[in-house]
Amino acid sequence: MARKFSMDRRAYLKTVGAAGTTAAVAGCLGNGGNGNGNGNGNGNGNGDGNGNGNGNGDGDDVIVPGTASGFPPFEYTQDGELVGFDVDLAEEAITRAGYEVGDWVDIEFDSLIPSLTGGDIDLVAAAMTITDERSEQIAFSNPYYEANQSVLVSSEGDFAPEGESDLEGRVVGAQSGTTGAAEAERLIEEGVVDGDDYRQYDNYTLAVEDLENGNVDAIIIDVPVANNFADSRSVEVAFVIETGEEYGLGMRQDDDRIGDINDALAEIREDGTYEDLVAEYFE
Ligand code: ARG
Repeated sequence: MARKFSMDRRAYLKTVGAAGTTAAVAGCLGNGGNGNGNGNGNGNGNGDGNGNGNGNGDGDDVIVPGTASGFPPFEYTQDGELVGFDVDLAEEAITRAGYEVGDWVDIEFDSLIPSLTGGDIDLVAAAMTITDERSEQIAFSNPYYEANQSVLVSSEGDFAPEGESDLEGRVVGAQSGTTGAAEAERLIEEGVVDGDDYRQYDNYTLAVEDLENGNVDAIIIDVPVANNFADSRSVEVAFVIETGEEYGLGMRQDDDRIGDINDALAEIREDGTYEDLVAEYFE
């Protein structure tokens, strides 16, 4: 079942890829053009969703998703193709909500919120934690996943910290703009880690490589992703920092299609699709 799901998505991506290659912004505009024809008549098929009933012809029926890959199993590339739990979940939610999935935009995590508010993308699916600070800039869907932070170290070396204080005098890294980076910054503020010993990475794949090479002693990263890296690389989780985070899909604050997305997410949970995705990507 789960397998069929991902094959469908791959087939779908191929179709999209064949139709309108790369340039996501261009893709968005192109699709917007075709939205022109039916912007008013898109009563979007699932009865209760009239959030986009005001179709003003500027492509309201297409949702362009954005992510930051290198964060397995949520978003990563496999044989040059963007895949992952978030990719499948977002495509399923967009489709069920009655919209068309635009071409994925894969950029740095730091750039997601500016790209969303600037209109280059319409939806962020990037294991993004719902925080007060981010909620001032964008709207979040209802939560779809829970996670804590972890401290990841090399499994080859002899550094085995048991708690935050063991990070004293060590080089610590995280991906820029993440909640993991916020934890690292807290440790600097608290005087545990020296500001000079803090490494910020564009993505966590680079951070894990540095961990394996011994260029950094520890990285702070979401637990489910740490576990995934631990399965395939020479790294292991040393301890967990209980942050109690919840991931949400991000949309612009004035985009009322988020109601349809929330309804779709609820349906995805109720009918077992969510569990299938968890089984496919986490077990
Ligand atoms: N959950 C963390 C945050 O919101 C990390 C997310 C990183 N996501 C990614 N696709 N690289 O900050």
